[in-house]
Amino acid sequence: MKLKIVFAAALLAVGLSVNAQTIIKFSHVVAADTPKGKAAEFFAKKAAELTKGKVKVEVYANSSLYKDGEEMSSLQLGSVQMLAPSLAKFGPLGVKEFEAFDFPFMFDNYTELHKITQGPVGAALLTKLEPKGIKGLAYWDNGFKSFSANTPLKNVADYKGKKFRIQSSKVLEEEIRSVGGIPQVMAFSEVYQALQTGVVDGTENPISNFYTQKMYEVQKHLSLTNHGYLGYAVIVNKKFWDGLPADIRGELDQAMKEATVYANQIAQEENDKALEAVRKSGKTEVYTPTKEERMALKKAMAPVHIKMADRVGKETLQQFYQATGFDPTKL
Ligand code: LMR
Repeated sequence: MKLKIVFAAALLAVGLSVNAQTIIKFSHVVAADTPKGKAAEFFAKKAAELTKGKVKVEVYANSSLYKDGEEMSSLQLGSVQMLAPSLAKFGPLGVKEFEAFDFPFMFDNYTELHKITQGPVGAALLTKLEPKGIKGLAYWDNGFKSFSANTPLKNVADYKGKKFRIQSSKVLEEEIRSVGGIPQVMAFSEVYQALQTGVVDGTENPISNFYTQKMYEVQKHLSLTNHGYLGYAVIVNKKFWDGLPADIRGELDQAMKEATVYANQIAQEENDKALEAVRKSGKTEVYTPTKEERMALKKAMAPVHIKMADRVGKETLQQFYQATGFDPTKL
């Protein structure tokens, strides 16, 4: 009898371990139909494929699991395993070097950006998350931000006195102040309503967010300023990640590698498609600033680089300037 019970228990244990499936909850705040949303789905599919179903990645889009203000602490607590927050979200966590990504006009294009995100400087930045219990796996692109409002935004004076929603970043606060605007920090999921009800006058976004959050319904003007970058770091709870069996972690690393190539391939295209859709909607007037107008904005925002240098750290900033060739003192 005793032997039978032991035998049955052993069978059950084997059965359980054969069927054991690791669940990774991957939460993010944007629509599924965006560069980040699509890359998250791609990763989930690849992870299932490469681990032969041993890992199931559940993707929660559009702040359906956590809002952007709640994501990070939930990851640290382990109630969610994977996130891809925008790089601006690491400053409030205390890793201020990441705010270098928020500096206005830091990058002119993806090529300059990739010198940081795909190189040693970007990799070193990710390791700074480890004391916070976070492991950084990759950088995923979104794109360059443009300003929107209900009134035209052509000249620097047009920003004066307007309330702009920004992410929680001291650098972005200074960016808005540098043109006489009033920064208003707010969770991403609340932006549409805030624009609709006039709680804020405008905001800044890559076009993929502007389109998929339907901001074009409640903003009459979009000025293609491309004045700053918004992209992501894919991160995991370090304890969870380190605790995975090495073979599974290796397969997930491979899935992440492939998802990163995919993410960075589609980012520009997704933003271009979104712009086309905004134009087609006929609800927002899309304006391309002249060279002079864009330069005036760049000059107005240049002091942000000087003012916020100590906060981010001169060493990090110099590494960025070296990669991009940008020199705020030469404007
Ligand atoms: C934002 O809050 O504007 C962004 O972080 C949203 C995003 O793209 O994740």
